[in-house]
Amino acid sequence: MLFPRLTLVSSAVSGALAASWIVPGAVWTDTSGNKIDAHGGGIVQRGDTFYWIGQSTSDSISPYLYSSTDLLNWTNLGKQASIQQLWRPKIAKPNGSFWIYGQVDRNIQALVSTQMVGGYVTHGAAVTIPPNSYTYSDTGMFKDTDGSWYILTSADHNISTNSILVLSIRHLTHLIVQYKSTKSTRTDPSEPEPLNSIRPAAGAYEAPGILKVDGVYFLIVSAKTGWRSNPNKMFYSTSITGSWTGPFDIAPQAENTYNSQNTFELTISGSKQTTYMYMGDSWDSKGGTSSNYIWLPIAVSSSAKTFSLQYHAMWKIDVGTGVVSYPTTKKRYEAEDAVITGRAAVTSCNDCISKRAVHRIGSDSQVTFQNVIGTGHPQWFSIHYSVNSPEIGEAHIFVNDEPRPTNISLFNSRAGYHKVVPMELTLKPGNVNTITFGAMGSEDFEVHIDGIELFEDEL
Ligand SMILES: *[C@@H]1O[C@H](CO)[C@@H](O)[C@H](O)[C@H]1NC(C)=O
Ligand SMILES: *[C@@H]1O[C@H](CO)[C@@H](O)[C@H](O)[C@H]1NC(C)=O
Ligand SMILES: *[C@@H]1O[C@H](CO)[C@@H](O)[C@H](O)[C@H]1NC(C)=O
Ligand SMILES: *[C@@H]1O[C@H](CO)[C@@H](O)[C@H](O)[C@H]1NC(C)=O
Repeated sequence: MLFPRLTLVSSAVSGALAASWIVPGAVWTDTSGNKIDAHGGGIVQRGDTFYWIGQSTSDSISPYLYSSTDLLNWTNLGKQASIQQLWRPKIAKPNGSFWIYGQVDRNIQALVSTQMVGGYVTHGAAVTIPPNSYTYSDTGMFKDTDGSWYILTSADHNISTNSILVLSIRHLTHLIVQYKSTKSTRTDPSEPEPLNSIRPAAGAYEAPGILKVDGVYFLIVSAKTGWRSNPNKMFYSTSITGSWTGPFDIAPQAENTYNSQNTFELTISGSKQTTYMYMGDSWDSKGGTSSNYIWLPIAVSSSAKTFSLQYHAMWKIDVGTGVVSYPTTKKRYEAEDAVITGRAAVTSCNDCISKRAVHRIGSDSQVTFQNVIGTGHPQWFSIHYSVNSPEIGEAHIFVNDEPRPTNISLFNSRAGYHKVVPMELTLKPGNVNTITFGAMGSEDFEVHIDGIELFEDEL
């Protein structure tokens, strides 16, 4: 069973052949209806096609490639090489060949192919990088506007001097690196130096990515907190060789980068506007198969040197024009109008749309929304709810006569952490459906629900 969570919720989650929105934290499926499995990845565009490579959590951390022409409808192009435990793969095309760079055992490994899709073979052994054969992890990739490619990586041999390095890809026969001398620590003059490095004043960084906007480089990094999310940071520079100014926040600190870790920044140059997209991983507690993705538009100013994630529960981009859009609401089902059982009760709520909500939902109580409109096809709903502590319990739903509830976290990693949690459901045609909302957890666990929002169908 590759995707145990999907099997569990298959009665309710769609096997839609194309997604209609980018829904951060939701379970994203490919054109075959399987969960997309490409974590710690990046995207390269060739012509009209976007290629998304990432590590497969269900297949031994092998590199998997997906393609799309709209950033919504992804076709699985399969495993790209027989290599295992290749973390954070990224594709580069610095010469006539196609290269995958990733991390094996805290060293950088290159693979090469004559074509974009398939046929990648390892190119030499995984390498440590001078000086001192330090080990590196968390490969990122950046292509500059002059056509130069850079590997971004985090030096992790010594946490107290831990650095992010920007390495230029030039001498491919030696794997990677044309260093530039910028530091004084070099002892052997023939030994290459990192082109640039950032030593955080405190703590350590990983998961680097770079976005260039009007001549300004924005370097995005995560702190090192394992699979738990943290407030990712931005440094900027007007030169790829530094020096870098920062760190600055890219989202309110309490949001922990909306429960994600940076992996890549994508530029979409449309006919009407250029849109920048943050790609992050929403890891599960083990970096495993139930990890999801957080992609968000970025508001960035090269003059003010500001960079902030634009948080949306659902959005999409017209890749032709670059224009971002959002769904419209078709109907809202208010919790205070639903059938309420147990200890749960209606309460006033200033933040809620109707100013009323239902609170004190625990293991003994339920809120049943009746006459919910279905189409027989997958539809997007958002559940608006909050919990007193996401660590001690979970909210769940039952659709119609389902015998057992499904935890909302199985639909979307935002469950319990954000007040709006989109999920895709397929209901019976007509206003004949019920959605029952409940909760399970420790005695102190309490949930507060505002309502359920149904979005307009796609035209
Ligand atoms: C999704 O992509 C596949 C492969 O390119 C294509 O055959 C299919 O028509 C697309 N579906 C939608 C709804 O765009
Ligand atoms: C790209 O670089 C590799 C490694 O140096 C070399 O083997 C290959 O021939 C190059 N490809 C082209 C088309 O230049
Ligand atoms: C780590 O770096 C610090 C500061 O340069 C140094 O004092 C320490 O010896 C280093 N530790 C290791 C294990 O290399
Ligand atoms: C759903 O959440 C509850 C409370 O956290 C937990 O006890 C239960 O195991 C979860 N069910 C599944 C199928 O994950």
